[in-house]
Amino acid sequence: MIDTLSQAAIGIVDLVAAFLLMYGLLRMSSPVTAPSGIFVAGIGMLAAILVSFLYIASVDEAVKPHLLINIGLAILALLIGGGVAWWSGKKVAMTAMPQMVALYNGMGGGAAGAIAAVELFGNKAGAAIPLTVTLLGALIGAVSLSGSLIAWAKLDEIIKKPLRFKGQRAFNALFILATIGIGAYMVVVTLGQNPPLMSMSGLIVLFFACALVVGILMTLPIGGADMPVVISIFNAFTGLAVGLEGYVLQNPALMIAGMVVGAAGLLLTLLMAKAMNRSVSNVVFTNFGDTAKRKQGKIKGSLKPMQAGDAGIAMRYASSVVIVPGYGLAVAEAQGKLFEFVKLLQAGGVSVKFAVHPVAGRMPGQMDVLLAEAGVPYDMIFQLEDINDDFKTTDVALVIGANDVVNPAARSDKTSPIFGMPIVNADQAKKVFVVKRGEGKGYAGIVNALFYGDNCNMVYGDAQAVLIKMIEAVRGLGLPAAA
Ligand code: TAP
Repeated sequence: MIDTLSQAAIGIVDLVAAFLLMYGLLRMSSPVTAPSGIFVAGIGMLAAILVSFLYIASVDEAVKPHLLINIGLAILALLIGGGVAWWSGKKVAMTAMPQMVALYNGMGGGAAGAIAAVELFGNKAGAAIPLTVTLLGALIGAVSLSGSLIAWAKLDEIIKKPLRFKGQRAFNALFILATIGIGAYMVVVTLGQNPPLMSMSGLIVLFFACALVVGILMTLPIGGADMPVVISIFNAFTGLAVGLEGYVLQNPALMIAGMVVGAAGLLLTLLMAKAMNRSVSNVVFTNFGDTAKRKQGKIKGSLKPMQAGDAGIAMRYASSVVIVPGYGLAVAEAQGKLFEFVKLLQAGGVSVKFAVHPVAGRMPGQMDVLLAEAGVPYDMIFQLEDINDDFKTTDVALVIGANDVVNPAARSDKTSPIFGMPIVNADQAKKVFVVKRGEGKGYAGIVNALFYGDNCNMVYGDAQAVLIKMIEAVRGLGLPAAA
């Protein structure tokens, strides 16, 4: 049994770890304090991991002979898990971040499910309430694991198309009800005297198998492009599952961390849905691609190509430039070149700012991370609501790899799938330069009227190649830098 001293130490360290996780999360709310927030939360996580060794060391007599093996296995798991995380974190491309988040989130759900499995197979959950909570955590954790893996496969384009069939929603609803029914039956069998229809171990395996299928069924019909929102929903699920298993283990760190993660995932889901002007149910139950195929009104004007060098020189002679980065910037990994170009403009006395849309790119905060990675100072980066009014007095809006987030149809075209979504007012600038490779559409799959506007020129090419040409052209002017 855990002696009183160990118990007190575990309790105190758990609470400190939970506090550090929450404080770390609070610091992550601003890009300036986020790096230290990640460090603080990491210390909290380390404390929670280290103190769990006290649990392993304080087992009952029956398990004592296996103590060294158990500690060895825990260290091995930590080394393998930590090693894989370190290696994959170092090598992942910025555009593959959503896939990585999906995988890690799935692991969290799987870990909660594994805790539940140990409790259930060891028949430790006992009374009705702990047993129900364990089963609930097992269900939500397993759904999050398999759903996140499908989300990863969709984002990585291993699964290319959503899988849909007639009566799918009714089938899914019945399957979910049947899974819950198995769980309820397990509670009845455990607490009552009724002999079970099959062994308890068999029921546990069946319950987990069904829960994993629920996650797959829920995710398969949703389009790949909606996966970031789906991952955020599963993130909320994982947090909830971990919190529930924390209750079963009576572990305050797990309970608090789980609930914080669950709440953060839920808030993020709602924020993303709001920034796209869609409801969460619209994301889960509607195929966005289908809505996007609706007929668009005829767009007036024409596309007017321009050489990269000419656009670069025009910006060098402007007094204010606002840059709107989007998904294409991340694809081209051109953030470094972009900042090099910005520094040239600034050296010539041009005022340069960045306007970041909350859902630019494919994951929350992607543009902020990208710009921070290139070394862009935080005070040059503005969120859409803080900069939108400035466009009317801006000489040039440089839209680079962005499309939907600057589409004026969101303001005016009621038939547009993005109608009502807040957008960056790039079209209101005196001049707009759009950098993209061709006439490819954005995530919403619709044509952008901004590109056809009288004040707009298209600078075709990969963002990285275009920026290199812009830099060369401005350097070629041989102008002295501003004092
Ligand atoms: P998009 O509307 O997806 O447009 C990106 C544009 O980048 C494309 O039109 C593409 O045109 C261009 N591009 C691609 N590769 C390029 C390259 N190498 N160099 C230059 N340009 C390149 O991007 P956005 O404006 O950032 O909007 C994001 C969209 O994703 C929104 O609709 C949003 O609702 C959705 N979404 C975002 C999130 C989050 S959390 N960020 C989550 C789910 C959905 P070309 O092919 O012609 O080059």
